[in-house]
Amino acid sequence: MNVRDSPIVAPQTPLRPAGHIVLDEVTKDFGANRVVDRVNLEIERGEFFTMLGPSGCGKTTTLRMISGLEEPSSGRIRLQGVDVTDVPPARRNVNMVFQAYALFPHMTVAENVAFGPRLRKVRRAEREQRVAEAMRSVRLEGLEERRPGQLSGGQQQRVALARALVNRPAALLLDEPLGALDLKLRKELQLELKHTQLETQTTFVYVTHDQEEALTLSDRVAVMNEGAIEQIATPRELYERPATAFVAGFIGVSNLIHFRADERENGLARMRFGEGQQVALRRPPSAGTASEILVTVRPEKIKLEPLPEPASRVEATVADVLYLGSMTQLVVELPNGDRLTVHRMNDAVDDRQFAPGERVTLYWAAEHSFAIEGHAPPVHDTGS
Ligand SMILES: Nc1ncnc2c1ncn2[C@@H]1O[C@H](COP(=O)(O)OP(=O)(O)OP(=O)(O)O)[C@@H](O)[C@H]1O
Ligand SMILES: [Mg+2]
Repeated sequence: MNVRDSPIVAPQTPLRPAGHIVLDEVTKDFGANRVVDRVNLEIERGEFFTMLGPSGCGKTTTLRMISGLEEPSSGRIRLQGVDVTDVPPARRNVNMVFQAYALFPHMTVAENVAFGPRLRKVRRAEREQRVAEAMRSVRLEGLEERRPGQLSGGQQQRVALARALVNRPAALLLDEPLGALDLKLRKELQLELKHTQLETQTTFVYVTHDQEEALTLSDRVAVMNEGAIEQIATPRELYERPATAFVAGFIGVSNLIHFRADERENGLARMRFGEGQQVALRRPPSAGTASEILVTVRPEKIKLEPLPEPASRVEATVADVLYLGSMTQLVVELPNGDRLTVHRMNDAVDDRQFAPGERVTLYWAAEHSFAIEGHAPPVHDTGS
């Protein structure tokens, strides 16, 4: 029997260890400008945690506050249970990795990697062992005697990573470390980075504005917007259950329906669109909330063939057709004027073609539409 299930254990026993890195109401003002607004975070030991958001939303500032390079205007930061808000960067057990590699050009790769331990007066034997280990974990064996100028961009970034890992930090703080690389190399290094993180069991706090990168790498993602956190969740949850209109739009295609719940029954809300047409919504917002709500549904969940009840069934007009090889992307307009993107895999036997102006009937399961917070502009950008 699991200890946790045992009735002998006092109910106060924490089910989760306290966060490895904790931000408590952390705020940063630059003059009159609030760039980080009451951020609360708990990052677990060994977690790959990503802060994702558009340019200028406060990601780097938040990371710099964790590292100690920037001081919060208010709020507290704890590392491994210790309040470090007033502790200088050099005495926090974290390492930053930047987009610009900042390697010492006159030193060899091995000397670059050994720099931290040397500074900390780690004995030679241990230093060499640690350097070898760090070189191995980023797959740089054999390049020890090269100088940074004799390496590719990807290799240089790996040296930067090894140089941080060699210090065995409690956490590695990575600010868009792959931002300067081309797409192909970036994808390659993403996989390696994930591999290194799993292998070394180091806590990674990663910053990116690339949603795909965030979804691929992370255990959990904090989506930031204008200094505040909109949602913290696993990549899957963010995609399948976005909490706000901003998250729905930033992760994947934003499909929003302005919804008025005309009927509520057995935990299902419906908006009638006319004869036989409805938007059905599981888990409708509690009574008392405004009758006008926003509903989101992901493009690949919308079908053009009938589905079992309860499902949404809405007639729409095709506005735009884009053939994308493995799938076709349709933009359709609903009777209320909202526009939705539909992704249809090109695997149907009927090989159905679509044309603008054509009438179609859309179906999706009630499970796949959600009420979300936030306001969207009434006229949608169709992305066409
Ligand atoms: N030292 C500073 N003084 C004044 N304003 C600053 C300073 N550093 C950052 N800012 C402002 O704070 C806001 C957040 O900046 P930050 O660098 O944290 O954004 P970011 O999310 O990392 O963006 P990006 O994706 O472009 O790197 C921006 O509006 C920026 O101009
Ligand atoms: Mg930044």
